Amino acid sequence: MDDMTTKDVQEPYTKHLLHYFDGTSRYVLIKDEEVPFPEGKLIVSRTDLQGIITHCNQAFIEMSGYTEEELIGQPHYILRHPDMPKVAFKDAWDTVGSGVKWHGYVKNLRKDGRYYWVYATIILNIRDGKPVSCTSVRRKPSRTQVDACTALYAKLRQAEEE
Ligand SMILES: Cc1cc2nc3c(=O)[nH]c(=O)nc-3n(C[C@H](O)[C@H](O)[C@H](O)COP(=O)(O)O)c2cc1C
Repeated sequence: MDDMTTKDVQEPYTKHLLHYFDGTSRYVLIKDEEVPFPEGKLIVSRTDLQGIITHCNQAFIEMSGYTEEELIGQPHYILRHPDMPKVAFKDAWDTVGSGVKWHGYVKNLRKDGRYYWVYATIILNIRDGKPVSCTSVRRKPSRTQVDACTALYAKLRQAEEE
């Protein structure tokens, strides 16, 4: 995946190198600016069993800042924000992989470097007894929980770096 560039992200920003689970890495540009979750909407996406995006709804496209063409076929980590602890996604994959619904608060990175918080549910889709894909539905998160997660994730991130 290409590095984020100043073409898409306006100053001021900070630059971070992210390493992904598949061994690739890229530079992301981060702005300390939140975009509020759109009222009355659900943000939905579907992936294959490797986390590659296969479908997304209009709210997903609008909030991510990417076009549908830029999203389909990309790993879902295209939205990973450097403030998210790795352990959150490990928990999500372990839980969903065992066939259990996962819920959690996620800070997502937009193409323009800004971020948005969601309350996400991820499920494994089973057809004829076999796992075929994953679906995530995201709702507006409570501000109290976002504040709690901001503090918790900062601690977890620090522990992961030590
Ligand atoms: C259905 C589904 C939806 C996901 N949604 C997100 C998301 O919105 N934001 C995100 O950062 N990761 C999401 N992930 C997790 C990513 O696949 C990935 O594990 C995560 O971004 C961390 O990147 P890494 O695995 O390379 O460390 C989702 C995974 C699945 C299966």
